[in-house]
Amino acid sequence: MKNYLTHDPWNIIEEGFHPDYNEVSESCFSIGNGKMGQRANFEEQFSGQTLPGSYIAGIYYPDKTRVGWWKNGYPEYFAKVLNSPNWIGIDIKLDGEVLDLATCKVKDFRRVLNMKEGYLERSFTAKLLSGKEVAVKSTRFCSVVDTEVGAIRYTVKPLNFDGRITVTPYVDGDVMNKDTNWDEGFWTEIEKTAKKRSCFVTTETKKTQFQACVGMRFSIFKGKTELEFPTTTTLEEKYAACSATVRCKANDELVIYKYAAVVSSFYHEKPKLLERCKKVVKKAFKKGFEKLLKEHAAAWAAKWEEADITIEGDVAAQQGIRFNIFHLYQTYSGEDERLNIGPKGFTGEKYGGSTYWDTEAYCLPFYLGTADQKIARNLLIYRHKHLQKAIENAGKLGFKNGAALYPMVTMNGEECHNEWEITFEEIHRNGAIAYAIFDYIRHTGEQSYLAEYGLEVLIGIARFWSQRVHWSVPKQQYVMHGVTGPNEYENNVNNNWYTNLLAVWSLEYTMEAMKTVEAEAPEKYASLLKRLNFDQATETVVWSEIVAKMHFPQHEKSGIFLQQEGFLDKEIRTVDELPAEDRPLHQKWSWDRILRSCFIKQADVLQGIYFFEERFSEEELRRNFDFYEPLTVHESSLSACVHAILAARLGKYGKAYEMYLRTARLDLDDYNNDTEDGLHITSMAGTWMAFVEGFGGMRAESDMLSFRPYLPEGWEGYTFRIQWRGHYLQVKVSKAGTVIANHSGQPLRLRVHGKVVEVGAGSETAC
Ligand code: BGC
Repeated sequence: MKNYLTHDPWNIIEEGFHPDYNEVSESCFSIGNGKMGQRANFEEQFSGQTLPGSYIAGIYYPDKTRVGWWKNGYPEYFAKVLNSPNWIGIDIKLDGEVLDLATCKVKDFRRVLNMKEGYLERSFTAKLLSGKEVAVKSTRFCSVVDTEVGAIRYTVKPLNFDGRITVTPYVDGDVMNKDTNWDEGFWTEIEKTAKKRSCFVTTETKKTQFQACVGMRFSIFKGKTELEFPTTTTLEEKYAACSATVRCKANDELVIYKYAAVVSSFYHEKPKLLERCKKVVKKAFKKGFEKLLKEHAAAWAAKWEEADITIEGDVAAQQGIRFNIFHLYQTYSGEDERLNIGPKGFTGEKYGGSTYWDTEAYCLPFYLGTADQKIARNLLIYRHKHLQKAIENAGKLGFKNGAALYPMVTMNGEECHNEWEITFEEIHRNGAIAYAIFDYIRHTGEQSYLAEYGLEVLIGIARFWSQRVHWSVPKQQYVMHGVTGPNEYENNVNNNWYTNLLAVWSLEYTMEAMKTVEAEAPEKYASLLKRLNFDQATETVVWSEIVAKMHFPQHEKSGIFLQQEGFLDKEIRTVDELPAEDRPLHQKWSWDRILRSCFIKQADVLQGIYFFEERFSEEELRRNFDFYEPLTVHESSLSACVHAILAARLGKYGKAYEMYLRTARLDLDDYNNDTEDGLHITSMAGTWMAFVEGFGGMRAESDMLSFRPYLPEGWEGYTFRIQWRGHYLQVKVSKAGTVIANHSGQPLRLRVHGKVVEVGAGSETAC
């Protein structure tokens, strides 16, 4: 765990230069706008520890699979999130000497991520080997208004010398991925130009043939006066730059404005990319930095107005939740149903792909609760569009008759994960996709989604489950062998309780959905069943049989649901017995030792109880929580949020707070020693759930929304906002109690601490 970032309600602050943690900071201070994003790399050259990373939404590279032992069914490739042309670079030379923070003395370094207005700022004083000292301040952002625009204001001030400052803003497409399987670059050059104060580079990805044109134009001011200056241009392989040298006196302030555009074939026709890029750069240049920033900040203010959570009396917790909300909206803005939420968003390469079960299980509730319904809907449509690929994917593994297995990881619907114990076995993901349909309808009330898109997906998933289970003669029950549950510290187990639960629930829900659609849209229902060759007489009969006779491993005496068959045969030890130097286990222990141990990576049985809380008594929840929580190492970012919610439900407020802080500050404090790879974007939505469902006790019940708020110890109060079936609510909790404001035009009935209250349109009610 690290603790070098300053606590502040609206900013992430690094005071003093921490070169050893630079890659952690590069992740934490990342900026993005849903269409592109980047790590907080430096503008000027830096020869120290760094992971360069700029990313463009929707663009990926299918890197040929590399495994020790090929297994039939493995996908041919792993989709890599692409490190893309760098538009931030500005090389600086002082009388010919390169400014590089790795080779000079750095003073007064400060890096700030301003979350309120959405920009990154950095300032420092550097003393070069020659003894020359210079003060630098840079501000940059990826505009959330003009989403193809990035802008930088870079100020250089010589402190103890008069001399020449050479400024070289550039675009560099000659970039690599750190995680390339075969040490190859993924981009080839299409064209490049550089003229006066602007340059453009167009590159294309190998195999997928995505094109990106990245361009820039710059200006230089001394104080408030714009300078006229000659430039020299440089063109190299996938690289274009313009250089200018300006004479300065000590304490002159040189301000460089760099306006960049990133346009891609994901949105534009390839032959028109350069023209489009030039147009976007020109428009940004004309608007100017201040106006671009003002509009960008105003758009962030509107987003915060909808989605902010405030906490009084706990700055660390406040900073944590805003950090999570901020990064989620930097990653996914929801207008494009072809895009999704990668576990690292635009902050790193790890995990590849853009879509895991994380989207459905963790991210959907956040977007449902904080944004317009169409954003969550787009996430569902994304999976609907991939249904045929999911059917092909299941077909490759031997499943038939329209059975659909959604991929563990995907960019375009195709599976691109290749470790057999996860690709083939971590099939619970299919259940999360069914659950998301249920969750969406429960939250929005849009039942017609079933007839339009949902039912078709559900039937594909149900067909998969019905073929994946088999009948056990000794048990006289259905069983499911060879699976990996959410706890990936166990592989190839039989009867993972969570997976069996999701399978049975999916079958039940699909049958219920069929009845709904039959009643509400009989024509659509009949035509869908015909198109899917659905055989009522056999298929649903088998499904009902499985529902009635599925095996759920359980220890009768203690009433514990067993994570999988035989779990209690393990040597049961608790996490508090583990020496600190053994953690995180996946970095310190052999895989073999991890698999044989009882330690749990992430909520598994508890994830199931969380999803279907209403099916279990409080006593069952308590027994299982008390058993599993002490065994859980939370080395998956997706774990602590679920434990926080359940702990709060059980009144274990100390535990709930500990788990909340762990999820909210996971990356800021680097709990799992892996923030350098990028941020855990998808678990950030889990943080939101931990807050709203944990402290706020919010539950979407079938008839109404309910809350059981409590105030964590030491807090003065908190507020959060919720969108629910066309209503917009604000929940305010303080020592005096709970007040719910209804900012919509219709009254709303809610359940608060089990009591039904009505909150009038445009008014507030103390509950
Ligand atoms: C977790 C998975 C998750 C993936 C991407 C893994 O460490 O165990 O559940 O889907 O990360 O976030």
